[in-house]
Amino acid sequence: APDNLAATPPMGWSSWNKFGDKIDDATVRAMADALVATGLRDAGYLYVNIDDGWQGQRDANGVLQSNAKFPDMKALTDYVHSKGLKIGIYTSQGPRTCAGYEGSYGHIQTDAQTFADWGFDYLKHDLCSGEWFYDDADEVKRSYYEMGLALKATGRPMLYSLCQYGRFHVSEWGRSVGGHLWRTTGDITDDYKTMSDIGFERNPTFGHAGPGGWNDPDMLEVGNGGMSEDEYVTHMTLWAIQAAPLIMGHDLRQTSASALRLLKNRDVIAIDQDARGVQGRVVREEGPLEIWRKELADGSVALALFNRGEVAAQMTPTAADANLARLTRVRDLWRGAAVAVDDLHFTVPAHGAVMLRVHGESI
Ligand code: GLA
Repeated sequence: APDNLAATPPMGWSSWNKFGDKIDDATVRAMADALVATGLRDAGYLYVNIDDGWQGQRDANGVLQSNAKFPDMKALTDYVHSKGLKIGIYTSQGPRTCAGYEGSYGHIQTDAQTFADWGFDYLKHDLCSGEWFYDDADEVKRSYYEMGLALKATGRPMLYSLCQYGRFHVSEWGRSVGGHLWRTTGDITDDYKTMSDIGFERNPTFGHAGPGGWNDPDMLEVGNGGMSEDEYVTHMTLWAIQAAPLIMGHDLRQTSASALRLLKNRDVIAIDQDARGVQGRVVREEGPLEIWRKELADGSVALALFNRGEVAAQMTPTAADANLARLTRVRDLWRGAAVAVDDLHFTVPAHGAVMLRVHGESI
């Protein structure tokens, strides 16, 4: 039976994009503290996820131990929980993880139980390791199913994130193996080219995402500094209009005012988290200009105007773009201001975006 763990796309933070496997107990605690101090927890970012790099060796009974950087996992999960947050962990299908640490191959049930005993609320399950790699679709599906069952068997509610880079049509079966989100693409990096390739081209596997299970175009790079502010606006707008999980990936202790403004915009988060759970899609394209639409629970519509070109452009959305007969109310979500419905002309900067919430009369 479906659980209620991912009625809307998961939100939080993960260690990978900024720290790679150079992550430790003190840094995870500091991120939990920073989520509270920045107000990001209260904006909805609830999960603090430890990615690859925490693993040590197995003991004589095959139980996986954390390494010296994580001296006491139970104490760490208790600490994160005491901040009103949830905490996630990472493993992989193979004998080794993507970064070469001990994987869960042959130890699925034991590891699921260990994660539950430690108090984790979220598991990201990867498809590595290096020389060893599933290349058979049925085998991959079966092994993700096995971990899904093992997580359920622990009795502890844990969100289950499948990480297999969109291979084997995962959107079609991610839900059936117990997944709450499934990666649809390769790894994001902190540059416009990779982010926009993923966001515009590689995630649109519509029809399967919705309450309970989400397409995952990988984690956010906002705050890491490799893109311009306009490009980060595009990043957030693309992820929100596609109802993507919003998992931050920067050092939260050093969140700039501009990153915080993007990550904490409640109107934009509300589009991502809308209860109807529609994954938005492109509805109009003119050269490098694209208009995307996402239908919302209250009958209003989110529109995103994207300029993928190298020079600023004028864009003029219409009621038809929103699939409405007539617009009655328009709000510019990044500017935080109402816009006159009879004057919908926007200057969209190069690599930038405008996000609107429009109300109107239905057709
Ligand atoms: C893969 C995943 C990344 C990260 C690393 C960890 O590359 O796609 O998100 O988890 O493994 O090694």
